[in-house]
Amino acid sequence: MNNHYDVIIVGGGVIGSSIAFHLSKRGKKVLLVEKNQLATKASSAAAGMLGAQTELEKDSPLFRLARKSRAMFPKLSEELKELSGIDIELVQNGMIKIAETDEEMSLLKSLVPLQQKLGEVTEWVPTDELHAQEPALSEHIKGAMYIPNDGNVSAPSLSKAFALSAVALGTDIQEYTEVYDFIKEKDRVVGVQTLAGSIYADETIVAGGAWSEQLLKQADTQLNTYPVKGECFSVRVKASPITRTVFANGCYIVPKLGGRLVIGATERANTFDETVSLNGVSRLMERATKIIPELENAQWEKAWAGIRPQTGDGLPYLGRHPKWDGLSIATGHYRNGILLSPITGWQMAELVEGKEIDDHFRVERNSIRELRI
Ligand code: FAD
Ligand code: GLY
Repeated sequence: MNNHYDVIIVGGGVIGSSIAFHLSKRGKKVLLVEKNQLATKASSAAAGMLGAQTELEKDSPLFRLARKSRAMFPKLSEELKELSGIDIELVQNGMIKIAETDEEMSLLKSLVPLQQKLGEVTEWVPTDELHAQEPALSEHIKGAMYIPNDGNVSAPSLSKAFALSAVALGTDIQEYTEVYDFIKEKDRVVGVQTLAGSIYADETIVAGGAWSEQLLKQADTQLNTYPVKGECFSVRVKASPITRTVFANGCYIVPKLGGRLVIGATERANTFDETVSLNGVSRLMERATKIIPELENAQWEKAWAGIRPQTGDGLPYLGRHPKWDGLSIATGHYRNGILLSPITGWQMAELVEGKEIDDHFRVERNSIRELRI
């Protein structure tokens, strides 16, 4: 292990690991520091949906960014497999966003031409057609917006594949090592303090998910972020009752390879509690069996929870710190960190190489200037 790196990345979730991968591809000597084990927090809790059109819906910088990131997955999947041996289980079979009420139906119907105008593929599937395509759906479902280009991956595999590919390209990894402060010289961050000692770098990037805010206080920075707990569970089925991900108000059901269905997710703001509650899981079960009644017979597998990093205005923080040279931030991906991980890694690597972050991102200098620094 060196004591001086080109870049230290704090946080071994999908965001930190993607940044490490993209930087090491460019020949940078990178250290990825993780206080627990790699890919054990939000990034392993995620359902893995690549829901650019499902989750984000309307035109915005984040929507455009998400579409770009989604398009990176097919090539990335091959590259990561070759470097790490890990299959990220990319499934590109689309999603259906279902309407259970007249209000939901008119809202979803209005999104179809909006997204088509933006060049995206989507169509409205009327009731009869939907039930012919997906006979397991409950009769009360009135139709669906079909989004063929939104797929899914295995979130834990993606995070590990990024990290192991980075290692194959020369990145060092230090697990069970908490970064508790920055090493500062005048107005520059020149490294990090860990319980295992001081480590120096030209650039330090904080990618600590929902915990970034705590660490950044050591750089006199108050991020406008908050944690949002999410619970999920999974079941096993002999044959999947649905051919595509079903996305509904307050519930989604994601068919995974090998006869698993992942069902999520609850939302509870302002808590770092990672335990699974009976209330959360029973509400999800009720929703899921209302949408697909035969799920009552599915075999229980497991339940889990994770903490999403959300920001005050819903946009991630990506960019250089306005006050401290050598310090950058990549956090706040909320419900879409898996989807946004490829483009985030690429953009942060561009930034380290001195290129301006493009305007699909929030203008990071302004965003951080607003903070109480
Ligand atoms: P994390 O995965 O939380 O990683 C941050 C890491 O930093 C942690 O491992 C932590 O231990 C480490 N760390 C923090 N502070 C320090 C420190 N001081 N020193 C060292 N290490 C530190 N997104 C999608 O795109 N699609 C989905 O379908 C989806 N489903 C989700 C379902 C659930 C239930 C949840 C909870 C989230 C879901 N998400 C989904 C969102 C996605 O999981 C997150 O946006 C993403 O994982 C955030 O990644 P991250 O690397 O920023 O955070
Ligand atoms: N994107 C799904 C979730 O965060 O639950």
